Amino acid sequence: MVLIYRLPFFVSSMLVLIPISISGLPECKFPAVFNFGDSNSDTGALSAMFGEPANPPPNGEAFFHSPAGRRCDGRLIIDFIAEDLGLPYLSPFLDSMGTNFSNGANFATIGSTIRRQNTTIFQSGYSPISLDIQYEEFSWFMKRSKLIREKGDMFKNLMPEESKFSSALYTFDIGQNDLTAGYDLNMSIEQVKAYVPDVISQFTDTIKKVYADGGRAFWIHNTGPVGCLPYIMDTQLITADQVDNLGCADLFNGVSRYFNQKLKESIIQLRTELPLAAITYVDIYAAKYSLIAQSEKLGFGDPFLVCCGIGGKYNFNNARRCGSTEIVNGKQILIAKSCEDPSSRINWDGVHFTEAANKWIYDQISNGAFSDPPVPLKMACLNRINDK
Ligand SMILES: *[C@@H]1O[C@H](CO)[C@@H](O)[C@H](O)[C@H]1NC(C)=O
Ligand SMILES: *[C@@H]1O[C@H](CO)[C@@H](O)[C@H](O)[C@H]1NC(C)=O
Ligand SMILES: *[C@@H]1O[C@H](CO)[C@@H](O)[C@H](O)[C@H]1NC(C)=O
Repeated sequence: MVLIYRLPFFVSSMLVLIPISISGLPECKFPAVFNFGDSNSDTGALSAMFGEPANPPPNGEAFFHSPAGRRCDGRLIIDFIAEDLGLPYLSPFLDSMGTNFSNGANFATIGSTIRRQNTTIFQSGYSPISLDIQYEEFSWFMKRSKLIREKGDMFKNLMPEESKFSSALYTFDIGQNDLTAGYDLNMSIEQVKAYVPDVISQFTDTIKKVYADGGRAFWIHNTGPVGCLPYIMDTQLITADQVDNLGCADLFNGVSRYFNQKLKESIIQLRTELPLAAITYVDIYAAKYSLIAQSEKLGFGDPFLVCCGIGGKYNFNNARRCGSTEIVNGKQILIAKSCEDPSSRINWDGVHFTEAANKWIYDQISNGAFSDPPVPLKMACLNRINDK
């Protein structure tokens, strides 16, 4: 049952009878967002760590007109979340230059996993900033920002007031790389599935820690249909009987669905363990799959055709991804370029979605249509489960 807190009883009982009426309730007015994730929501952390090679042009060209730390031609779902909440785009915690954290911080990095990987980023491409490290950074940020505000120096107004930590929205979009890390090690589907419960358990551990620190509103994206992305379709061995009617690698999507089922079960359990939390589970898988299914109808054409890339079946070459250059006659030449009109494609670089696709997905999820419970983003502090 859904309970609306800080409201008279009759309002909450009406809500149970007519869930649609939540749209008439006041919005949460989140003053800040703290985000945890991977490249689906990194707004510049990997670039802050490794510079331009971490995110070369033409990334960012359509909206920011230069690389903006995002693996996209423009904005990510997390940017549309910030815009809709009336907040500035989130700054990466790791960005040390001219950064204003008064409305939150972003701990996501390109290549992040939930579990620590036993390889370096130089070997496997996975980021050392796994979810447990992102939590440590958040915890450090919380303590340090309090000290800085107390000191009252010139940095004071770049830090969130302490009260914002309990009224902020905590967003999560992570897990896809934990699955692909297993495929990269040539593990079987069964071997990858076998470690999913451990991945989910580490995911929920982090949510519990943020709750213990005072976080209350959680907006959690499940993992997308990775088997519909060229970087899986082009690099993994996929037989004809493993392809679904859209052309996606269903065996790999099956592991994502298994991850999502385990995540959903854990969140149901978490709601009883964390009675003051409002936890919204967002079915990003279904939203992305629906976009791919309707691609032609929506004017995006072939959903698998990569905008920024070179060669191969999908305009994707894993060894020469978006932004790859070559030295020709002593000059560096961009060879994996952007397409004419990124807004006419779903897939940006074989791994990530274009801004146009991200906007479409955000418009689908923001009203609660893909959420459990079905509350809109701006109401995501209200869906506390009644523990009575
Ligand atoms: C890394 O190695 C340790 C020790 O062998 C193991 O317990 C852990 O599961 C490994 N992590 C991953 C992501 O494979
Ligand atoms: C940081 O951003 C907040 C909110 O947008 C603003 O009120 C504050 O003045 C900014 N701080 C600085 C030092 O610019
Ligand atoms: C996985 O298999 C491929 C193809 O057999 C091989 O080239 C690659 O080195 C293997 N990777 C690992 C991590 O064992």
